[in-house]
Amino acid sequence: MDIIFYHPALTVDNWLQELKQAIPQARIRQWTKDDDAAADYALVWNPPVEVLRQRKNLKAVFVLGAGVDAILNKFQQYPDMLAPGVSLYRLEDTGMVQQMQEYAVSQVLHWFRRFDDYQLQKMAGKWLPLDEYRHEEFTVGLLGAGVLGSKVAESLAAWGFPVRCWSRSKKNYAGVSSYAGDEELSAFLSGTRVLINLLPNTPQTTGIINQSLLNQLAEGAYVLNLARGAHLIETDLLAALASGRVKGAMLDVFAKEPLPADSPLWRHPRVAITPHIAAMSRPDEAAAFIARTIALIEEGTPTTGEVSITRGY
Ligand code: NAP
Ligand code: GLV
Repeated sequence: MDIIFYHPALTVDNWLQELKQAIPQARIRQWTKDDDAAADYALVWNPPVEVLRQRKNLKAVFVLGAGVDAILNKFQQYPDMLAPGVSLYRLEDTGMVQQMQEYAVSQVLHWFRRFDDYQLQKMAGKWLPLDEYRHEEFTVGLLGAGVLGSKVAESLAAWGFPVRCWSRSKKNYAGVSSYAGDEELSAFLSGTRVLINLLPNTPQTTGIINQSLLNQLAEGAYVLNLARGAHLIETDLLAALASGRVKGAMLDVFAKEPLPADSPLWRHPRVAITPHIAAMSRPDEAAAFIARTIALIEEGTPTTGEVSITRGY
């Protein structure tokens, strides 16, 4: 079995070592320019078109992350990049669930215990105990209830917050109310105090966190964007912060990354920023997932993690 690997990061040795250990029967090679030899599987992140186009023997492509918006956009640009019949997979969990739970729980608790307010008071040299927030006035709403959103929802419910999620199909997760489809979006937003975004970026969800959506949240809401910068209209968020409708935001992803130096988000006292690190695939867990999935494909047994290219995620 031949596997071709491409990742634009500077060091890929760790990935290659884990993959060789997990799939010892395979010949795994890193793609180099002018490599047009056959490969059964391709493991890629943001690949140049040549890595996949006209690759002989290809059965499946694995994207080395959870989101597939970048590669699907590339397929639009180069319609012959993926031959018909070649499956596209993405990574499910592979360490990202735990990281997303840690990120979301710590930030919701930060807002709930008013550490944002106390930090601003500290900067002003002000000693002033504030009223405590109650769990019942701190409803958390998850946009997206898939592999990551469902587990983040469950971890916040365990902290005693009222939790709801919004997805395309109805869900039945312990302690989480489910809203589905465009017709239930307004009901989901109404009363949501903390909005957490874990949607995939698709034509239906691009720009979804806009003025109209923000205006439907509870007064003094918080926004946590963990999915893609394209979901959020940054100028609408800044306007909602200025009006007080939104009290604070934490953003891991941006319309343009790295976030340009002149973005007003950098200096906003009620906006926290991380550089797209909310959850990263762990090479050892990713290699185990890929090895397991390849074994199932080879046996002809059903798999999980296959992307529906027409659905967009
Ligand atoms: P997933 O398992 O595919 O879940 C996607 C969820 O979104 C599903 O619940 C789906 O509904 C829902 N959804 C999709 N389109 C919708 C629409 N038009 N209306 C309502 N709901 C919709 O994805 P995941 O693994 O949880 O990952 C989610 C996203 O997180 C990724 O696509 C990626 O962009 C982002 N991410 C970011 C980082 C980071 O470091 N910041 C790391 C990993 C992932 P159904 O369940 O009904 O299908
Ligand atoms: C990271 O953003 C991912 O999609 O895995």
